[in-house]
Amino acid sequence: MKKLKYKLFSKEPVELSGDCYIMALESSCDETACAIVKNGREVIANVVASQIKTHEKFGGVIPEIAAREHLDAVNVVIDEAFREAKENANLNPEDITAFSATVGPGLVGCLLVGLNAAKTLALTYDKPFIGVNHLNAHICANYIDTDLKPPFMALLVSGGHTQIIDVKSYDEQTILGETIDDAVGEAYDKVARLIGLPYPGGPKLDKLAQEGNPFAFKLPEGKVDGYNFSFSGLKTAVLRLVKSFDEVPVKDVCASFQETVSSTLLKKLKSALEEKGYKQVVIAGGVAANSEIRKKVFSLENEGYKVFAPPMKYCTDNASMVASCAYFNTNTFDDVNVEVFSRVH
Ligand code: KG4
Ligand code: ZN
Repeated sequence: MKKLKYKLFSKEPVELSGDCYIMALESSCDETACAIVKNGREVIANVVASQIKTHEKFGGVIPEIAAREHLDAVNVVIDEAFREAKENANLNPEDITAFSATVGPGLVGCLLVGLNAAKTLALTYDKPFIGVNHLNAHICANYIDTDLKPPFMALLVSGGHTQIIDVKSYDEQTILGETIDDAVGEAYDKVARLIGLPYPGGPKLDKLAQEGNPFAFKLPEGKVDGYNFSFSGLKTAVLRLVKSFDEVPVKDVCASFQETVSSTLLKKLKSALEEKGYKQVVIAGGVAANSEIRKKVFSLENEGYKVFAPPMKYCTDNASMVASCAYFNTNTFDDVNVEVFSRVH
């Protein structure tokens, strides 16, 4: 892999060749993370500071508080990543090839913290800076410790997004379909809240669902064209169902909700695979940690597909996926004047 990158404030291109060590920062939501990845696939250091404890009491992420917590944590995670890199690979800060950070989509006040830290490191060590799209990064989590190469189909399911993406090459991606209302993770968190589970409800709902009967209640699948999704109707149906009981059969409600979501996702993913004729499929994003979604997507292996899913720690927000993306994807934001962004337009 041969790529040209520019140092900040410099017109002199730097050729990224030979072994490439990228340090990345991730601070788009409620995790402050720093990682160092070799050649896009080998994790040398991976540090994540979670803010879940802080936001738990509010039942969701408060952007202003999150940004301040990132400020407190950012230097700690950078120091720890450098320490791990020294211990694991005898790597010094001067050995880093380029510095990277998530630019968006995410909470702007939060993104600014990681972005400015990475730019400062790039200036200090006189190395290129590479800005990364958070959604691309989630997909790139699948390159870590694997030999995955495009083309493949990706199902991206996170707190903010639900997309089926045709990944034609490392740089060329087309969104074939996405949610027209709630993202899967958002639906999980809202339903979880409705049945009284603390934030973030997704993983807790998943646990309860595994003990319930997935066919206890028939819930409606969102009827939308093509590869698009809709989950807000399902959420309302769960609300109605929950209200109809004096004592809610929580495990069965969770299992039925999970069954409806996962079978909808699988159905659309499968028809996208068939249409494009791909034999490889990946799942990505925080909700890719979900037990039933994983199980259903992995069942495609029985039909001859090769399935990739990152291990849990690289499904939810982390910086290793950002470093991998900075290495593989050339659609990056390398300008010193790059602005953070909250949404993709
Ligand atoms: O990708 P991510 O870490 O952050 C975003 O970029 O959104 O995803 C977080 C989302 C949350 O909504 C969380 O509830 C959900 O992923 N999540 C899960 C599971 N683990 C995390 N949802 C369902 N089942 C899980 N096991
Ligand atoms: Zn994410």
